[in-house]
Amino acid sequence: MRQDHLITATQLSRADIEAVLDRARTIDESRSAFTQRYSGSVLALCFFEPSTRTKMSFETAAKRLGADTIDMGSIESSSVKKGESLADTARVIEGYADAIVLRHPSEGSAKMASEFVDVPVINAGDGAGQHPSQTLLDLYTIRERHGLDDLTIGIMGDLKYGRTVHSLSAALTNFDVRQHFISPESLRLPRSVRFDLHEAGAQVREHTDLEAVLSELDVLYVTRIQRERFPDENEYRTVAGEYRIDEETLSTARDDLTIMHPLPRVDEIAPTIDETDHARYFEQAHNGVPVRMALLDILLGGED
Ligand code: CP
Repeated sequence: MRQDHLITATQLSRADIEAVLDRARTIDESRSAFTQRYSGSVLALCFFEPSTRTKMSFETAAKRLGADTIDMGSIESSSVKKGESLADTARVIEGYADAIVLRHPSEGSAKMASEFVDVPVINAGDGAGQHPSQTLLDLYTIRERHGLDDLTIGIMGDLKYGRTVHSLSAALTNFDVRQHFISPESLRLPRSVRFDLHEAGAQVREHTDLEAVLSELDVLYVTRIQRERFPDENEYRTVAGEYRIDEETLSTARDDLTIMHPLPRVDEIAPTIDETDHARYFEQAHNGVPVRMALLDILLGGED
């Protein structure tokens, strides 16, 4: 890493990404070699929003490295409830832990927290902003199956509020990847993300119809409509359920199409797809452990 914190995927170069993915591969092949490497270290899991995968896979990763974890319990039982600021919370926790994993509903929260502490901060999702460690496990999953160059990927669903999309699309600009974005008009990528992709020279096209591009795709990355981010529930209802992948939808897909999803899913992918060779979303979630072990190994080890 060029920096001590992992805040956004835009800070990652191709070399940074490959370093993490290569380390994750090594860990995946010989986990026992890494056991106890960080015995005595403590990872703080600070989650101000719900999480299953990110929190539990960071916890598993830390424990497999021999480190302990601490967390804040529910927000209701922490001093956040008494009005403590995020900056003060972070400053206190840096005295308890060697690194902080932070999920928070406000965009920019991880960057702000990182400015108050000396231990590494890992952004585990800041509102509709970024989720860079998810991106690393997404890239690991893609690389294992297709490599990361000369690739066509479709990213579909809630591109406006989906932080995994914002991070993944930025990281993909390091590789020879054609990116197709499929969404309702109202959930297009934010202007700022489109601008950054353009500045990075990304090969980007936007669609409202999956059919227009499905047969070209190596990877289809499906996302949930982020109901909790809509300011107006009626607005959510107009787009809910608009895109759903089932066997009929996939009739023109390539045999080796990989379907991914950061999860949780609601109804975007029919359960009948789970048993097909296309479905990689559970494998993707499981890859969170070796990839987050690799990330912690690099950040806690103080490597460049
Ligand atoms: N993919 C992801 O961030 O899942 P969680 O919300 O369960 O952590």
